[in-house]
This record gives sequence, C-alpha cells and structure tokens, in this order.
Amino acid sequence: MDFRQIARRKLPAPIFHYLDGGADDEWSYRRNTSAFDDYELLPAQLNDVSKVNLKTTLFGEKIDWPVMISPTGASKLFHATGESAVIRAAEKFGMIYSLSTLGTMTIEDVGADCSIPKMYQLYVFKDRGLTKDMIARCKAAGFRALCLTVDTPVAGNRERDHVYGFATGKFRLRSVPSLLRHPGWMYRVLIGKDLDMVNLAASVKPDQFADMSILEYFNSQLDRSLTWKDVEWLAEQWDGPLVIKGVQTVADCRNAANAGATAVMLSNHGGRQLEGAPAPVDCIADVADALHDRLEIICDGGVRRGTHVIKALAMGANACSIGRGYLYPLAAGGQAGVERGLALLRDEVERSMALVGCDSISKLGSTFIRRRGVAT
Ligand code: LAC
Repeated sequence: MDFRQIARRKLPAPIFHYLDGGADDEWSYRRNTSAFDDYELLPAQLNDVSKVNLKTTLFGEKIDWPVMISPTGASKLFHATGESAVIRAAEKFGMIYSLSTLGTMTIEDVGADCSIPKMYQLYVFKDRGLTKDMIARCKAAGFRALCLTVDTPVAGNRERDHVYGFATGKFRLRSVPSLLRHPGWMYRVLIGKDLDMVNLAASVKPDQFADMSILEYFNSQLDRSLTWKDVEWLAEQWDGPLVIKGVQTVADCRNAANAGATAVMLSNHGGRQLEGAPAPVDCIADVADALHDRLEIICDGGVRRGTHVIKALAMGANACSIGRGYLYPLAAGGQAGVERGLALLRDEVERSMALVGCDSISKLGSTFIRRRGVAT
C-alpha cells in the first residue's frame, strides 16, 4: 500500500482515481481484500521447511510461483514504460503475463518482446470480424491462452471517474490544478501517441479517443448480446487454454466448463463493475468442490499479501492474479517499482509457507485453513 501512496503523488488525480476507484460505494472493491480476514491459517508445526517449493503449473506452463499478471487496460497511463516494464519484471519472476484488449502495446510487439507465457484478454465487439482478427493475431504472435472477460456488458458506475472527468474523456475543472502539477505526464499524453488503443487501431479512428473515454468506448462498442453459445464459438476458434474472467458462481463456472473453457478467473473486475458482487476469495471453495477436476481456478481480486495467496490456494485455487497489485508499483517506479513489488509479494509467500509449515505449493489444502473462529 506504500506504492499506492507514491502512485497517488505521481499521477494526475483523474488517472490515479481511474486506477484506484471502484463502482458505486466501493463495497466490493474493499471486500475483495478484507474478505481474506475472514479466514485463518492453521500452521502444521515441525514440518521440514528448509526448502520451500513455490513452483507450479498453469495453462500447462511451468511458473515459478502461483501468481500471474492480470490483464489491465492502458498501462502507459500510469507510467511511460507501460506494458514493457511489466513484462520485463514478470520475466524476472517467472510469471505469466496478460495483455488487455485495451492495452497500449500491440499483440505483435508483446509477441516479439515477451519470453514468458502470454495470455490475451479479449473483449468481444459488436464487430465480430474484429474479434476473429484479434484471435488470428494472438495465434500468430504465440499467445498461449485466451481470456474472455464476461463481467462488462456495460461499464460499471465508477463515480470517481465522473467526479474527475475521466468517464467523459473531458477532465473537470477540479482536475486542472492536479494536471498542471504533472507537466511530464501531460506532455506525454496530450502531445505523444502513447495512449492509443493500439490493438483496436484498425477499427478506431486515431482521434476517436480524443472525444471518447475508455468507458464510453466500452459502452458503445462491446457486444451486450453475448451468451455461453458465443463461448462455445470462441473455444472452437481458439483451440488452446481458454479462460473465462469475471465469474463468481458455481453455475457460471459450470457453464464455462461446458462451453469449453479450461480455466476461470473468479473476479469482480477489482470491484469496478457490479457493486455487491462477492469477493473472489469467498467463491473459491464452492467452485473448487464442484469443478476442480474440470477447471483451473484463479483468484483475481484483492490480493495484496503473501498470506492472501496462501489462503486462496489452501481453499482450492490454482493461482492468484494481481492487477492494482502491480499497477501501483508501476506508477510509483516503472520496471524497478514492479520488480520491488513482486519481490516483496513473492518473499511474503515464501516466508508464510515456511511459517504455515508447508514446503510445497502442491501440498496446500483445506487442512491449512478455516473460516475465522470456526473449529475444525
Ligand atoms: C477497466 C477496464 C479497462 O476496468 O477493464 O477500467
């Protein structure tokens, strides 16, 4: 959370609040992290923990520890080095990287530049040709997994974006002093071409975003008529690990598996979409009980501590993913910031594994966790 404070100083207010904010009263956003407090870790003492093995697999790929980079839009809003800074850092930490449809680096450049396994996060547009085209580009660029985000038929009600003008693409008067305090950022964004939605370049006229915010673009272009039938279509097109992001219930996870998905990201979009949606950590146990043999389960939301990762895995998740967890460090210090953030988190996972008495990620299970105060 120190990175968050630095990010707050470094970013113009509308940008910081776009990153930091959630929908409505931000209950789901806060709950994503606070829900971890409802669980206790039960150590098994005097197990030999002289070596702790954090390695595991996800999407059939070996990873060095059970945390992946979640897809997030417009990384260059937060630091000039954007996606490539995150890729460099994630490579050093043996993770999986995800590129967002709304990213500021092309599918092809990430393909050429990123040596770790890659996932592409897809939004399905009214223009289905655009979706097909993106899938073909991802295959050609060597992306391992495709991820469909399903919790965004419309943009959530992020009130901070209305207050500061981000939601309309026209910054409010109250944001002007903050923008003037960040001339470097202003120069880059207003003069430079840094923030084009490069993967949509074929369909979005270059100046379209000048008149429209990311959220307005969402509302005008995303296909609200999507159903699980479309996921079947996607599974046929992709023919590789297919991840559904933004589900919370066993019923939807079963729908995902039936439609051909191989993994789910339990997620409420960082509390930015449906206010009142449960925290991902609270959804793991039921989904794992019902579907662990059919789906890999990723806990996406609220992860700030190594113990959060251990709790999620003890409950049945295969891995966790982080969004703001690397974006605050990116805003605070570019690649060096992300590396520092990842090092802190990984060290916490390793230390807490020793303290809980478990020497391998594969051995984490229900004996290590209970709901707070409930006797086992
Ligand atoms: C958001 C979109 C870009 O959460 O996913 O702002």
